Amino acid sequence: MKIKKAVIAAAGLGTRVLPASKSIPKEMLNVVDKPAIQYIVEEVVNSGIEEIMIVISRGKTTIEDHFDRSPELESALLKKENATKYEQVLKISNMANIYYIRQKEARGLGDAILCAKSFVGKEPFAVLYGDDIIRSNYPVCKQLCDTYDEFGLGVVGIKEVTREQIKKYSSMKVDFVRDNLFRITDMIEKPNEDQIFSLYSILGRCVLPPEIFPILEDTSLGYGGELQLTDAMKKLAQINGMIGVDFIGDRYDMGNKLEIMRANIEFALEHEEIKEDFKAYLKKLAERL
Ligand code: UTP
Repeated sequence: MKIKKAVIAAAGLGTRVLPASKSIPKEMLNVVDKPAIQYIVEEVVNSGIEEIMIVISRGKTTIEDHFDRSPELESALLKKENATKYEQVLKISNMANIYYIRQKEARGLGDAILCAKSFVGKEPFAVLYGDDIIRSNYPVCKQLCDTYDEFGLGVVGIKEVTREQIKKYSSMKVDFVRDNLFRITDMIEKPNEDQIFSLYSILGRCVLPPEIFPILEDTSLGYGGELQLTDAMKKLAQINGMIGVDFIGDRYDMGNKLEIMRANIEFALEHEEIKEDFKAYLKKLAERL
């Protein structure tokens, strides 16, 4: 079944990147010349999905504004005969049909996904974390949708992380299937040392069947007093099994200061307008380090 809808969770508090995220949503933090969430919407669109729900919260209306028309700016650009910039600005508001819903309290990623229940209806759907940019020629959302098409099971994007990192993420119980695919039969959110199944963790993307909603409604609050999506997916994995895709792509967590810097440097090194000057600057700077 073709995946036609995506949900982007962007309602978190972003406490790890304060004070930057105090009045600017971390999903709107800039990477070279675009806010993080635009890279994520572009990934969804490049995966063939045009119906997107973004789960936001108080103080995040700049996300809605960014994907809306901007008549004053558009006519100013037209007057200045700046056609390239005009088209660039217009394109942002025409990329997809974007719907918004507010999560009234930051009660966890599971709760954010539950807010999209009516939007999703009875179809499988993609989930993207609004603060995880993943760069790949084969969009990771598409990698997961293609895997869903093949297996008809829930799919999660996974990567191996360090032992230190896994305690802050989730850990997957995996059996190798083929190439970069694994069957997942169990998982745990933020494991202690003796609860680690493997160093494979879910990073930023999944495709879920609609059965996840009744499971989420039946899941009690987990780690940190939040409704954890991992706790619901654990049940899904135990009942039907899920598929893990060790995805091809570089991930940048915009909820982490070092990763924000890495994203800006690596995207700048590929940006047509500034890459040569930026490379020269970096080389010069490196001599002094
Ligand atoms: P994170 O755990 O990285 O986001 O959730 P956070 O809660 O903002 O992080 P802290 O405060 O720095 O620790 C992953 C994604 O899920 C969204 C976040 O916006 C982020 O994009 N999220 C998280 C929600 O939409 N609602 C929530 O209640 C929690």
